[in-house]
Amino acid sequence: MEKKFKRTLVTTALPYANGPVHIGHLAGVYVPADIYARYLRLKGEEVLLIGGSDEHGVPITIKARKEGVTPQDIVDRYHTIIKDSFEEFGISFDIYSRTSSKIHHEMASDFFRKLYDKGEFIEKVSQQYYDEEAQQFLADRYITGTCPHCHNERAYGDQCEACGTSLNATDLINPKSAISGSQPVLRDTKHWYLPLDKWEPFLREWILEGHKEWRSNVYGQCKSWIDMGLQPRAVSRDLDWGVPVPVEGADGKVLYVWFDAPIGYISNTKELLPDSWEKWWKDPETKMLHFIGKDNIVFHCIVFPAMLKAEGSYNLPENVPANEFLNLEGDKISTSRNWAVWLHEYLRDFPGKQDVLRYVLTANAPETKDNDFTWRDFQARNNNELVAILGNFINRSLVLTHKYFGGKVPAAGELSEYDRATLAEFTDVKSTVEGYLDNYRFRDAQREAMNLARIGNKYLADTEPWKLAKTDMDRVATILNLALQISANLAIAFEPFLPFSAAKLRRMLNMSECRWEQLGSSNLLAEGTELGATELLFEKIEDATIDAQMLKLEEIKKANQLNEHKAAPIRDNIEFDDFMKLDIRVGKVLECTKVPKADKLLQFRIDDGLGGRTIVSGIAKYYNPEELVGKNVCFVANLAPRKLRGIESQGMILSAEDADGRLVVITPADEVKPGSEVK
Ligand code: 2FM
Ligand code: ZN
Repeated sequence: MEKKFKRTLVTTALPYANGPVHIGHLAGVYVPADIYARYLRLKGEEVLLIGGSDEHGVPITIKARKEGVTPQDIVDRYHTIIKDSFEEFGISFDIYSRTSSKIHHEMASDFFRKLYDKGEFIEKVSQQYYDEEAQQFLADRYITGTCPHCHNERAYGDQCEACGTSLNATDLINPKSAISGSQPVLRDTKHWYLPLDKWEPFLREWILEGHKEWRSNVYGQCKSWIDMGLQPRAVSRDLDWGVPVPVEGADGKVLYVWFDAPIGYISNTKELLPDSWEKWWKDPETKMLHFIGKDNIVFHCIVFPAMLKAEGSYNLPENVPANEFLNLEGDKISTSRNWAVWLHEYLRDFPGKQDVLRYVLTANAPETKDNDFTWRDFQARNNNELVAILGNFINRSLVLTHKYFGGKVPAAGELSEYDRATLAEFTDVKSTVEGYLDNYRFRDAQREAMNLARIGNKYLADTEPWKLAKTDMDRVATILNLALQISANLAIAFEPFLPFSAAKLRRMLNMSECRWEQLGSSNLLAEGTELGATELLFEKIEDATIDAQMLKLEEIKKANQLNEHKAAPIRDNIEFDDFMKLDIRVGKVLECTKVPKADKLLQFRIDDGLGGRTIVSGIAKYYNPEELVGKNVCFVANLAPRKLRGIESQGMILSAEDADGRLVVITPADEVKPGSEVK
């Protein structure tokens, strides 16, 4: 038996306020949550859509330090940008607040204190890196060093971005403080831990037995976390930005950002409804849903529920419809590499086209797997679906009504067999769309709504009222009445998905009300209703507009490649003796051939003045083998031999690499004897 609820609380992941938001955010969290909240409102249900900025955490402090401003300056800047973007895209938050607010600090602090007083934490002393010069403990991100796995010299204390391995700061070779550059030392520090292991039996029962209906990606992640065995999680950090730990002896410590952020959902509800917030969180007749991206699953399905359970008086989420990721033109969206379509830039480049992006993102929503946003698909969906199907149908219905009936809804006469069949088709749409929305399947729901427009388009194309106008105006009246009823249905069906266009359509149709129950009715517009002025709902997007966006991305890609090269730092100084260990020689290329089935490798036979040797080198992309024969090259003669594709390479040919990654072989400026030393 499905549980019945009185009201629904919809929360959306709080984005970090250290950068603007992009299409990945919109597709993953905010558009689906907004569709759902709008749908419930349209049904007349009691619903709250809660959002806000996540303003704590180490990356914000790093950004502030880099810019020489305070963390508060950073979050003030981005909170406003993010909030404005959401508003512009019609995300219908009942409140969009922030975690640096006083009310949030109080709420998070009280929450911690309550768990602390109930004995729900364990205290542990551990060793952590401390910067003696800066006199502070270092968050993992503030420590850099050499990765023990791939020897990348710029790995962070929590992760090596070169090989993708998760690290502990103590794994790093030659750790350095990113604040002072000095070598940090290990010091004892006390922290509070939430013993997730204690909640394991409960989580297993509640999720794995009680919520088998959750999306398989969500359920699967939870299962693997639980099956791996849950460990106590530290909920405090040594940092000076965040909610101070409200117990004695915790100077210089704040709540871990992932402890305070979800409490932001509660404090934002309280900020909105100071007198009635509790019923939204504690009345079992409230259904709570968390809309998030897949990287947040563990926090919303395991950590936060354990916190709520430990507190004791709160509801748990009924569902967590987490999305997978949206990629951009085949590559992972990345803030640091500027590989994104930023919402504020989209609004500048495509003013008034918020619904187009909403539509495309829902049509491609990463609900069950990662999906790709491409500008070509964006254009195609706009031109072939929004313009050619939805826009075209509405426009024809309205223009013909203005032309033949002076802009008044004509009376329907007797219905033909075909009219009745069309009616039957569109009356089914309500239950189909509803079925999808109730199960958080937004892309299927939107596709069904678009099918309604397809039905309308086909109806006009088949009945051709413009041809009948000379002979049978009664029939034309019936056809247009039906077409207008379908248009009115579209205004309702699309309200959750395309709120701006739906509002425009309601104005054009002069619809006074818009309720979900009306969907499927063939009597939404009374005969004689005066229609408003006709406007175009969507416009074609030209190739040149899309080309400009593609060009912009290409330039970003180029800039990234350049940066990656420029950024290669000068390595640490070495002693002269270390340099002298290298034996670099000049050799003459005797033979050079491609290595079969290896597109990068060339095999060289070199006259090294010592009887000859074989070297394999990864420069095949930049040279034809024959152009190198007879050239003098420089090579490392005492590199331990290693096998490449089964061939023993006895040294390394030296090349210079330019910013585009092109390799150029180093040759001596004048003729020298093979075997000569390079010093
Ligand atoms: O991943 C993120 O962007 C986090 N700022 C999400 C926090 S969600 C909630 F817990 F506040
Ligand atoms: Zn590495």
